[in-house]
Amino acid sequence: MDKRLEINIKIEVVESENDLDDAWQLLIQKAKEASYSAYAPYSDFNVGAAVQLDNNIIVTGNNQENAVYPTGLCAERVALFAASSQYPKNAVKRMAIMAQKGKKGKFLPATPCGGCRQAISEYETKGKIPIRVLMMGPHHTLYLVNNSDSLLPLKFSPDSLT
Ligand code: THU
Repeated sequence: MDKRLEINIKIEVVESENDLDDAWQLLIQKAKEASYSAYAPYSDFNVGAAVQLDNNIIVTGNNQENAVYPTGLCAERVALFAASSQYPKNAVKRMAIMAQKGKKGKFLPATPCGGCRQAISEYETKGKIPIRVLMMGPHHTLYLVNNSDSLLPLKFSPDSLT
């Protein structure tokens, strides 16, 4: 008989921002604010990401597009790379992602792309603590995952290189 591997992924569905504690609400606010400064003239899809480090400092990023499309970068990686370059010794402990089409403040469901999931996983390895990720789900709910395994099962990790 064939063997089968079953992977359980846990996603907490939060009904409203108001159900979250102050730390998460602040991070959501920072991610929303960052989305207003996104440079996304080609898609007009404006994404903000805010990461909080183990020293509680918050670093934000937003998507940066380019006329040569693949040259641009997603908000999540802009935030993670900025955090790791400015605070190389501090681990990322959580991240909020907020996206809007245009800049009218109507935030939409958006989950990180595959490349950003891989980057989140890398910074989990680097920081040695899980990164909790909050994003918007359908109908104004919020999705919360406790680590990158829930975003990227069977991921390629530094162990894969040995
Ligand atoms: N984008 C992000 O910045 N983060 C996501 O989670 C999804 C997509 C950006 C990339 C591109 O600039 C635009 O949104 C449309 O894909």
